[in-house]
This record gives sequence, structure tokens and C-alpha cells, in this order.
Amino acid sequence: MAAKLRAKIAGTGSYLPEKVLTNFDLEGMVETSDEWIITRTGIRERRIAATESCTDMAAKAAERALKSAGVTASEIELVVVGTVTPEMSFPSTACFVQSRLEIKTGVPAFDLSAACSGFLYALDVAEKYVAAGVAKKALVIGVDRFSQLIDWSDRSTCVLFGDGAGAVVLSATRGKSGVMASNIHSDGRKWDMLYAPGEAAKTPFVEQGDQRSSDEEHRSQYLSMSGNETFKVAVRTMVASIKEALKDAGIGAEEIKLLIPHQANQRIIKATRERLKLPEERVYMNLDKYGNTSAGSIPIALDEASREGRLKRGDIVVFVAFGGGLTWSSAAVRW
Ligand code: ACO
Repeated sequence: MAAKLRAKIAGTGSYLPEKVLTNFDLEGMVETSDEWIITRTGIRERRIAATESCTDMAAKAAERALKSAGVTASEIELVVVGTVTPEMSFPSTACFVQSRLEIKTGVPAFDLSAACSGFLYALDVAEKYVAAGVAKKALVIGVDRFSQLIDWSDRSTCVLFGDGAGAVVLSATRGKSGVMASNIHSDGRKWDMLYAPGEAAKTPFVEQGDQRSSDEEHRSQYLSMSGNETFKVAVRTMVASIKEALKDAGIGAEEIKLLIPHQANQRIIKATRERLKLPEERVYMNLDKYGNTSAGSIPIALDEASREGRLKRGDIVVFVAFGGGLTWSSAAVRW
């Protein structure tokens, strides 16, 4: 009997915008300090897509992933993009990437909305197409331009986020490498812990008397977050999600070579790591350079870890994310 079909991560790529916004720059914008931001979050600077669109970042990350996989765009049979800041309401950013990279006509391309869990949701879906034999090669992208969702006068949120994109190429294999287990979860009842109405907050059909002040209208579009509550739920759900992935993969936490968590806050990551009794060197962090890039965070970190030589063939790497929705997700992969 032939071995089980698996989705192997054949290549990785990422793109970070050129503009750097440091904590010191933020000191000039809101009442905050470099020291407060570093102590509470671990973030030193972030990138801002001042000239890049969502598609620009996604396409560049995807091109780099294809190059690292040694796969041509013409071989791609599925494109899935996790994003909550798409290029337009429609078409999907995935369709824009298909066109920009000249991926074959007829290949399915679509976006998924799961905020910071967007990349892992996209990976979970694409993995199932590949493992079922429906697509031999798939492009999975996580991208967000969160700077457009932030109220830059709100110090409680503007210090946390940045923009960026990451991508992987999945390839069907009957070898041992590939996704071993993956889970995705959501709880829509807790939507108001973390949300951003964006353009949906606007309507041309407002009765004269109901018109909100322009200041209220302005603020209501932007990201809103219950920071402390988010912190606690993030740790609880991420630990549970990792344990589920490990159980489904039939391995123990001690076998994790590298945990790549969503890069939200170093204190959330530390609390998660301690509950799993993982040593510090087995957990990847680059949030000091980029902040929380939402759906971009895990594939950017994976790309950097891979290029730094942190992963060897056969190593177990575990991803975990948490985001608005609420959503949470984890995947265990043999490199
Ligand atoms: N600079 C200086 N002071 C600040 C700032 C700032 N940027 N922001 C808040 N403060 C003040 C507060 O006003 C408060 O002052 P007070 O005591 O006088 O009222 C004080 O600092 C402490 O505020 P807390 O909110 O209690 O600070 P905390 O230690 O909880 O850290 C933080 C806040 C960093 C937001 C933390 O709660 C956190 O990281 N939460 C999780 C956020 C997260 O990960 N979100 C992304 C989820 S993923 C997604 O899908 C988008």
C-alpha cells in the first residue's frame, strides 16, 4: 500500500516594507516610551507599508517562496491567502496574486479571514486539498497591512502592530516530511474582545438626525481591543491548541525542535512556553523587529528561522496562533 499523501513545506518567503517605525518615533506621536513598549511587549520597531499595497507584499513573499521551493508559478494548483486587510473588498487578494505571478487560469484562488490566525487557517485548508490529492502544489500566504486599521492616536493599540507578508509552497509527497496534524478553532461569541470595523463602519444611508460626529465615525472604524482579557485567553487557547496538535501527531512537547508562535507579545509567548515546559531556545521570536504583523507573523518568522538554519530535515516544528474572531489554531510539521 502506498504511503499516506502529505503536504510538505517545500519553500518559504517573506516581505517586510521598507519604512521602519521605531518606539522612539512613536514617542513623538503618542504619550508612550521606548521603555514601556519594550517591557510590556518586547517590541522595538515595526515596518509600515507606506508605499506597498497588500498585493505588493503578498506577491513578493510568494515569489520568494516559489524561488526557495524551486517551483514555478505555472505548477501552482491552489492559492489561499489569510488576510483581514485585503487589497479590495473584492476581488480577493489571492486573485490579484494569481494575476501578478501569472499562475494558471482556472486555478482556485481565495482569501480567508481569521485575523492573526489567518495564515494557519489558510495552511489548514490548503493542507487538506494537498493531502486529498486535489492540488499537487499550493501557495499559502499570510499578509496584513494592519497600519490601515490602527488609530494612530490610541497608544494602547498603535504600539503593537506592523505590516508584512509571509508565504509557503506546499507540495504533495509520500515521504515523512509535511504537516502531521493541524487544528483550527473559533468562538464568535467573544468577537468584541478584538475587532476592527474598517470600511464596514461607513454607510451613505444615515438619517440626518442619526448622523454621528465625524470624530466618533473616525474612531469607530479602527481596531478595538480588551488588552488584558486578550492576553489571558491567548495563552489559554494557544496552549490547548498546541496540546491538541501534539496529541493528533502522536508526539510529546519534548520533541518540539522549534515552536513558532504568533508574534503578538513576548510575555504571551513566555507564558505559553512555560506552560509547555519548553526551553527558551526552542521558541522563535522576531517581534522586536516587526511587532505583531497579524497573518504575516508566523510565515515571516518561519522564513527567517529557515534561512537562519534553525530547521533541519526531520525536525518537528509547531506553529500556534491566536486572533480576532476569536480564532486560534496550531499545526505540527515534520521539516
Ligand atoms: N505607553 C504607555 N503607557 C501605556 C501604553 C503605552 N503605549 N498603553 C497603555 N498604557 C498604560 C495604561 O493606560 C495603563 O495606565 P493606568 O495604570 O494609569 O491605567 C497602564 O499602561 C497599564 O496598562 P495595561 O493595559 O494594564 O498594560 P498591560 O501590561 O496589560 O499591557 C498590552 C498592555 C501590551 C496591550 C497587553 O495587555 C497585551 O499584550 N495584550 C494582548 C494584546 C494582543 O496580543 N493583541 C493582539 C491579538 S492578535 C489579533 O488578532 C490582532
